Amino acid sequence: MTKFIPVSEPSITQKEIEYVLDAVKSGWVSSIGEYIEKFERKFAEFVGTKYALTTSNGTTGLHLALVTFGIGDGDEVIVPDLTFIATANAVTYTGAKPVFADVDPETWCIDPEDIRRKITSKTKTIIPVHLYGHPADMDAINEIAREYGLFVLEDAAEAHGAGYKGKKVGSLGHAGIFSFYGNKIITTGEGGMVTTNDEKFYERARYLRDQAMSKEKRYWHTDIGFNYRMTNIQAALGLAQLERIEELIEKKRQIFKWYKEYLGDIEGIRLNPEKEWAKNVYWMVCMVMDNDFGITRDELMKKLKEKEIDTRPFFYPISQMSMYNYGVINNVAYKISQVGLNLPSGVNLDKNDVEYICENIRKIIKYRG
Ligand SMILES: Cc1ncc(COP(=O)(O)O)c(C=O)c1O
Repeated sequence: MTKFIPVSEPSITQKEIEYVLDAVKSGWVSSIGEYIEKFERKFAEFVGTKYALTTSNGTTGLHLALVTFGIGDGDEVIVPDLTFIATANAVTYTGAKPVFADVDPETWCIDPEDIRRKITSKTKTIIPVHLYGHPADMDAINEIAREYGLFVLEDAAEAHGAGYKGKKVGSLGHAGIFSFYGNKIITTGEGGMVTTNDEKFYERARYLRDQAMSKEKRYWHTDIGFNYRMTNIQAALGLAQLERIEELIEKKRQIFKWYKEYLGDIEGIRLNPEKEWAKNVYWMVCMVMDNDFGITRDELMKKLKEKEIDTRPFFYPISQMSMYNYGVINNVAYKISQVGLNLPSGVNLDKNDVEYICENIRKIIKYRG
């Protein structure tokens, strides 16, 4: 019987089990506890920011950061069209409008030139997404933000440890957010983190995250805040994962190299990019079918599924979905989303698994190169 190969699965070792057990046994099961403090401190160190603030997930991290910037009714926030829905939804939660910019044909991340075209007098923030583990072109984005006086919120939900010109993502804008969902590079089950170098932003985000309670007077609330906290149990899992993050990223990079070895010679198939200024952490191994192989992306996925090989389609352009369809067409996002798929990328894969997956892809597309 062939074994099922999932797109992703977490790597849980004895360390994770021990830390979680310790957190549970300590009695500090909610959002106060040593693991929260340690996880935040070590994560800030890892990213290279002064502050890191745990949140209940990446989506609440995005929402919290936007509210902390003061984004609300009547504002516009530029987001890439090709991303997970949470990037746009978090903008909508604030009352602002997400405006969709096209993506760069090589990196699949937001295209700075299109950001310029989408700026209006209402624009307040840009959210670049480091898609599938590759950083967006942050210098160009920060330059535009400076010119127009905008905030930059990095959505690094999929890119823990990815590098841009020697710095880590999450440290390059006014604030950054990460997700620790079960399929991410490190996980806390559900969870998120907001990173920043700005003390005022950090203090306000923390206050809003914790129900906006007055520092001077307990149970006196001075704004409409949120409970967007992570639990100490989750942070224990997160800390154990963070202590292994270099190993996990190295494995991701190794898995990508194996795919490149087995699929790299096929004309008309493109795998993840890695720009000369970037370190890609290959959260998901991506394959874009630039040629007509006589089979659609969806048919290929179906045939792989028959072989117990799981895949995922690229995200669909958000501007195509009814809630966000203002009649904008972003050609690059539109085209790539139809021909891109994510291949199994879990850190538990070995070289034989990747070889097996690639052999099947070659057979299905009838590549005889
Ligand atoms: C680009 C992007 N932004 C935001 C999120 C939201 O994170 P979460 O699922 O932790 O809410 C995700 C992923 O899950 C994501 O991929």
